[in-house]
Amino acid sequence: MKKIAIFASGNGSNAENIIRYFNEKPQLAEVSLVVCNKSDAGVLKRAEDFGVPTAIISKSELNNSDFMLGLLQKHSVDIIVLAGFLLMIPAFLTNHYKNRIVNIHPSLLPDYGGKGMFGRHVHEAVIAAGEKQTGITIHLVTDKYDDGAILFQAKTEVTAEDTPESVEAKIHHLEKKYFPQMIEKFFCP
Ligand code: GAR
Repeated sequence: MKKIAIFASGNGSNAENIIRYFNEKPQLAEVSLVVCNKSDAGVLKRAEDFGVPTAIISKSELNNSDFMLGLLQKHSVDIIVLAGFLLMIPAFLTNHYKNRIVNIHPSLLPDYGGKGMFGRHVHEAVIAAGEKQTGITIHLVTDKYDDGAILFQAKTEVTAEDTPESVEAKIHHLEKKYFPQMIEKFFCP
């Protein structure tokens, strides 16, 4: 049985969805920790509602290897899932958890990736460019933004009527449908 830590900075709809999914499959995996860098992020309450331990960390704690590896070992973490986590993952973590850190990005990488491209900003850029489609990318994490091997992509149409909000809703629909499934497929076989 795998132990998952979810790193998130915001609302936490993906985090909640992953917690719910593996609560139904306790033989496969359990979310044993939620790590967050914002004390007012919605993800904290969502985790607490499910009894999942949370850790609020600063940027300097994230970059402190003794602190972070100690925290993750305390919760026996095997896999790290980034679900809307906006800080750069330090190299000691990508080395220690090589091929065991996965991120979801709300575009069809390599398009609309890189620094500053997160959440609503991505959807605004997709609409501004007149794209006819967008989607989600689930990929391994290296110490460069949005750069590791792509494990899965799913597409959705962008129409002339779409707004950043409506594109975001389509993206969240895809994320909800596929992210937990892909974590199971690639990390809990
Ligand atoms: C998700 O759409 C995720 O793809 C995106 O942040 C959102 C978090 O939503 N991640 C990035 O933009 C990473 N560059 P949530 O907090 O409701 O799960």
